[in-house]
Amino acid sequence: MATTREQAVEAIRAQAERDAGRSALDFLTTEERRLEQCLLEGAGLTFDFSKHNISLDGFAALLGLAAAVGIENAIAALGRGDIVNLTEGRAAQHMALRGGGKDEVRKAQSKAELDRALDFAGELRSGTFTSSTNEAFTHILHVGIGGSDLGPRLVHDALSSPHAPVDVRFLSSVDPDAFERATSGLDPATTLVFIVSKSFSTPETSLNTRTAISWLEAGLEGGIGRHLVAATSRPDAARALGISDDRIFEMWDWVGGRYSLWSCVSLSVMAAIGREEFERLLEGARRMDEHFLQARTSANAPVVAALTAWWHRAIHGRQSWAVVPYATHLRLFPGWLKQLSMESLGKSVTIGGAPLAVPAGPVVFGGEGPDGQHAFFQLLHQGREAIPVDIIAFACGGERRHRNALLANAVAQAEALLSGRSEAAALAELAAKGMDDEQARALASHMVMPGGRSSTFILGQELDAESLGALLAFYEHQTFVLSVLFGINAFDQFGVELGKQLAAELEREWMAGEVGQHDASTKALIRQIRHYQGG
Ligand code: F6P
Repeated sequence: MATTREQAVEAIRAQAERDAGRSALDFLTTEERRLEQCLLEGAGLTFDFSKHNISLDGFAALLGLAAAVGIENAIAALGRGDIVNLTEGRAAQHMALRGGGKDEVRKAQSKAELDRALDFAGELRSGTFTSSTNEAFTHILHVGIGGSDLGPRLVHDALSSPHAPVDVRFLSSVDPDAFERATSGLDPATTLVFIVSKSFSTPETSLNTRTAISWLEAGLEGGIGRHLVAATSRPDAARALGISDDRIFEMWDWVGGRYSLWSCVSLSVMAAIGREEFERLLEGARRMDEHFLQARTSANAPVVAALTAWWHRAIHGRQSWAVVPYATHLRLFPGWLKQLSMESLGKSVTIGGAPLAVPAGPVVFGGEGPDGQHAFFQLLHQGREAIPVDIIAFACGGERRHRNALLANAVAQAEALLSGRSEAAALAELAAKGMDDEQARALASHMVMPGGRSSTFILGQELDAESLGALLAFYEHQTFVLSVLFGINAFDQFGVELGKQLAAELEREWMAGEVGQHDASTKALIRQIRHYQGG
């Protein structure tokens, strides 16, 4: 009889108890086949899972869970384009956007729209598509939020050069300062406003779009039509703004916003980096898709990564997960992953609507490695609660001395998290510095680092469009596998709706000078804001 999810979880718990008190350091010395089994390759990236406090027997038990939840079938269903987003009755076909997966119809549909977007981006780059004043566009104001912003913003920051023919400014927040900053120094005559909104009803994007249109109108004598472009699944709404069909690019309901960077949503990125680079990004992602769809479970990097993350969350109750790229070009990566992971996995009920037995998605945080070392790494090394860490680094690129210093830090941090520093080692260090015994004893306990802190090391040869595509697709797939392990829907986000509704109502009351039905604290806050505003 097949093992059930509950039985598989029980087996994992039993193994975790047997392994209690043992760490990866211990497993690395005692398990002969550990490196062989824990070092995986996928789409040109190397994944080292050997520094997790999970014995090989623990990994085997986790693979038992993967089998019990039918991970292979779930991956195949995703790749086929089945309806996996059950609450909204939709497929999740981000793989098709980059020519991956098995859904030939959607692949062809995506390819046609992608080609249109790449052609248009090419015209912007060459200056053949001109502004209403017959000039080449020098800037794109990319207006969008959440998935319509974070992915393109990250890819642009990672891959664009200061010599790009078109510069991109991103505008997501409704903070008036955001608009000021995004348009500072821009000339409406040479600025194209690219509105990205799958729903075309997101309040922040609607307001920013209206303001951008007024800004264009104020600065342009002729019509502004040539200055407006949209990516949306609501072409009718874009048309209503006066945008002509040839400048409306289609998104589909079978791609979630946070999974959409591979599409025309990234038109502004295409204009900045060009067709070839963008296609390389897609190629990297497609290679990761192939790995994900084909590799056996124990050698499947996104699956194993999800199993380790599930272990820390469900078995040990670890609430946080740190992601640390040692790459300046990936400084926006944690922000992108925060949405991908927390909007996908921040759920409390199963797909069937039953309360979850264990909490799902962890809190994701992180930042660029060298800066993080001088900020939050103290908590990673000595905080009471162990926090699993993903360290991402690339072996080549740029000036050699800087590259090696960067890599030395990345590797050293993973090693320090693993091995820690005992009290005896701290005492020996202090004695070597000539400190007397009493002082050394008083100080040593502050220097102890427990070690045994789990990390995944992701190593690429060089950060380029292809490795970036592979890396981002890896995290998309890990997120999906985690959702299957938790038994939740990774593709809806009902939790973001209530705040939106309340904000709309509050804004209406504000304009009308009313105070509606609110709790006492909210009313007090409104009164205080009005007081500051002099009202
Ligand atoms: O924050 C909720 C959300 O729906 C995200 O999932 C989405 O990426 C973002 O808003 C923007 O949505 P849209 O592209 O429809 O404007």
